Amino acid sequence: MKTPILAVLLMAFVSFVGFTTNKSQPAHKYVGAEVCGMCHRIPKSGEQFQKWQASRHSQAMKVLTTPAALKIAKARGVRGSPDQSPECLKCHQTAYDVPATMLGPRFNKEDGVQCETCHGPGSDYMKMNIMKNVKEVEANGLTVLSVTNGSAEKFCETCHNKQSPNFTGFDFKKMWVEIAHPIPR
Ligand code: HEC
Ligand code: HEC
Ligand code: HEC
Ligand code: HEC
Repeated sequence: MKTPILAVLLMAFVSFVGFTTNKSQPAHKYVGAEVCGMCHRIPKSGEQFQKWQASRHSQAMKVLTTPAALKIAKARGVRGSPDQSPECLKCHQTAYDVPATMLGPRFNKEDGVQCETCHGPGSDYMKMNIMKNVKEVEANGLTVLSVTNGSAEKFCETCHNKQSPNFTGFDFKKMWVEIAHPIPR
């Protein structure tokens, strides 16, 4: 009679350990736009890095240090400097609320809205053998967004909405053209 109870306890213990180790699997880390730019700056790849650098997204932190930003923050009752306030950072800075241990050595918070805001933390999918395989990138943390199926537009609207102090509407087609960065095929 004693053995089956022990066996049941042991099984429960094993499944509990299995469950917790599963849950504590290391999450993907943020590497920063500079790291993506190692490969995504060459013409053959589509120069995504330069296109992002030339866009407002790369300036989204700089803009929080302007007098205009301070005025907006004051009007909204935000205390302290806008470039330190979660109320502003949530749309202006990549990974603003993740622990420092989840940020790679070359990740720079001053880079504003970076590649990984839209594509997901890249420490695992950025490896060359994985990058070349659509199925592999998804399993390794890449968020797949598509202009065609509407998922990209929905994602943009998580920031481009009425909560933005300067919001004057969001015309996806027009805005996408401004930041499009296709791989030449
Ligand atoms: C070691 C070089 C390298 C690094 C670093 C790298 N990539 Fe890539 N990436 C590639 C290559 C190669 C492809 C495949 C290009 C092709 O299909 O022509 C690719 C494809 C992609 C794609 C398209 C994937 C698909 O299947 O739809 C995205 C999105 C992407 N990269 C984003 C990023 C981001 C974001 C980072 C940084 C976190 C990054 N990459 C870092 C080499 C790299
Ligand atoms: C819901 C997301 C969101 C939040 C929260 C947010 N912003 Fe922004 N901010 C945006 C977007 C998106 C833009 C680009 C303009 C637009 O189309 O709305 C922007 C643009 C700006 C600009 C540039 C305006 C210009 O036209 O040059 C300033 C300055 C600014 N925000 C300051 C702030 C400050 C200060 C806070 C915090 C009190 C804040 N933002 C909070 C999304 C947000
Ligand atoms: C504001 C969001 C956003 C940012 C920032 C962003 N991307 Fe993208 N990216 C997208 C979306 C959305 C698509 C899907 C486009 C489509 O469906 O045609 C995409 C597509 C891509 C592709 C595949 C293009 C193709 O033709 O298949 C690559 C590669 C890529 N991004 C790399 C980068 C890199 C590298 C950075 C930073 C230097 C970056 N992206 C920054 C939203 C973004
Ligand atoms: C994490 C929040 C966030 C997301 C997601 C986001 N943006 Fe932005 N976007 C911003 C902020 C903040 C600014 C303003 C930066 C500045 O003025 O320096 C901005 C500015 C822009 C601008 C320049 C605005 C202008 O008036 O010239 C364009 C174009 C743009 N975004 C397109 C897009 C598109 C297209 C998507 C989706 C594929 C997208 N954004 C997703 C935060 C975001």
